[in-house]
Amino acid sequence: MKFFADTADVAAIRALADQGLLDGVTTNPTLIHKSGRRFVEVVAEIAQAVPGPVSAEVIAADHETMMAEAEVLRRIAPNVAIKVPLTPDGLRTCRALTGDGTMVNVTLCFSANQALLAAKAGATFISPFVGRHDDVGFDGMALIRDIRLIYDNYGFATQILVASVRHPVHVLEAAKIGADVMTAPPSVINALFNHPLTDRGIDSFNADWAKTGQRIL
Ligand code: G3P
Repeated sequence: MKFFADTADVAAIRALADQGLLDGVTTNPTLIHKSGRRFVEVVAEIAQAVPGPVSAEVIAADHETMMAEAEVLRRIAPNVAIKVPLTPDGLRTCRALTGDGTMVNVTLCFSANQALLAAKAGATFISPFVGRHDDVGFDGMALIRDIRLIYDNYGFATQILVASVRHPVHVLEAAKIGADVMTAPPSVINALFNHPLTDRGIDSFNADWAKTGQRIL
């Protein structure tokens, strides 16, 4: 399963990239606002720091303007993926962009039927928001299971990119289902390392090693 960082914080992205954990980055208008940076400038810096897909979202609601915005964004770097909303105009734009080789990430997906539409529109990635689904009392991971079943039934190439990931259990469940990608804040990715028994084991090994009075170097 590929790991994408869901952030526009370049320092955090570089830290994860240095650990060899990063396959891509997703941004959205909220994350760009949080960065306090100019949109095109920060996407350019991220795309230079990470060789994998970097999602940059259009703002327009109509197809023609989405296409014009996408033209600005895809010129930033060859690894920029254009994020479009799951609307009729968004999927029309998706079809046009993927038709000429541009990666498209269809976002704000909350149903398996929406994901089916995105796959039929040739989306490179579909982004079901599991955390927001959970927030309103639905089962976000059940949505991922449904999409995985449907995509496998018909051999759709669209990659399931689990988004709105809030904690390590979302990552674990996405991997068990067979999602292609998960995108999460750096804090969630770093939390995957954590287990108290690992910490306790290191401490006890160190304590016993100290008793040997030996050094390796
Ligand atoms: O990329 C989508 C993701 O950023 C949404 O996450 O936590 O705002 O639901 P969240």
